[in-house]
Amino acid sequence: MLRRCTICGERAVARAAPGRRYLCAKHYAEHFERRVARTVEKYKLLRGVERLLVAVSGGKDSVALLHALHRLYGDRVELVGLTIDLGIEGYSSPQVEAAKQNFEALGVEYRVVRLSKEYGFTIDEASRRRKLVRRPTCSVCGIVKRYIMNSVALEVSADAVATGHNLDDLSLFTLMSIAQGRVDDLVKLAPRTERAGRLVSRIRPLALVSGKETLTYVVVLGAPFHHENCPHAPSDGLRPKLSAMLEALEDSVPEFRRMMYTNIVSNLLPRITRPAEVETQTCMVCGMPASGKTCSFCRIRLRLVESGKNRVATSSLRG
Ligand code: AMP
Ligand code: FES
Ligand code: ZN
Ligand code: ZN
Repeated sequence: MLRRCTICGERAVARAAPGRRYLCAKHYAEHFERRVARTVEKYKLLRGVERLLVAVSGGKDSVALLHALHRLYGDRVELVGLTIDLGIEGYSSPQVEAAKQNFEALGVEYRVVRLSKEYGFTIDEASRRRKLVRRPTCSVCGIVKRYIMNSVALEVSADAVATGHNLDDLSLFTLMSIAQGRVDDLVKLAPRTERAGRLVSRIRPLALVSGKETLTYVVVLGAPFHHENCPHAPSDGLRPKLSAMLEALEDSVPEFRRMMYTNIVSNLLPRITRPAEVETQTCMVCGMPASGKTCSFCRIRLRLVESGKNRVATSSLRG
């Protein structure tokens, strides 16, 4: 049966939420943007932000983030785009392409950082040599992304970095941190983390919208995005299981994720006093904040790049 938009009577494309009103493309986009704007206001995400680095992977969430920020605040906040080519075969190139297409369509100034070109290694290499790196691939990837986002934010003098983490991601990470007793880590999952020395402020304007909503929004806008899963994403373990559990719970208790996340942000986070800031030292290699003499990024890079040089030297000696 053809559904009509409850606001204007045009052909409906989606529901505002399960059980809620039907909306046409224009009114769905407005509804989504209103929800993002409410999150921005509720958590004062743009307070003091004149120049904002928007990290866009090319996936649905960060593409939605870029469009919503551009439409809502493009006239008062200077947006600078960033996309990182992580060097994951068959995955990174189409993602970077999608990100670039969106920056160009909106006329947003942007930077592309190629991990292999600028730092001499790729995530595929970190995966092949994970014994040497001594970390799971996704953990390496997380460190790499955070490091590059922060360095570029400093370089372009951005007041904050915006990422496309959505409610599904944040409620899942929250639950995992609690289950694993990493209570201090909860602070990092807030919609906004403040600047601390050379660590630039982070904001998450999609914190209260779900993955289904961001997908509907980008489809409704007709924005290009890349929708494959990362080949390094673990298909087993706690994370996918908890994610499925939260999904099922949401079906029987609508809005569970939002309730859990917003309650934790409002009632629990203010009570967590972080132990003396962990990253109080300065990396002796790159000068960025570090928890020891060398930052995690430089440790990974040096292991991969230095051992690569040794391999070349050994094979030329043999030859
Ligand atoms: P993920 O860590 O893949 O869940 O991504 C979380 C957020 O980090 C995304 O919504 C983006 O804002 C940002 N991000 C992830 N990958 C990239 C990338 N390759 N380039 C730029 N930003 C990224
Ligand atoms: Fe980083 Fe998959 S996107 S390991
Ligand atoms: Zn309508
Ligand atoms: Zn360093």
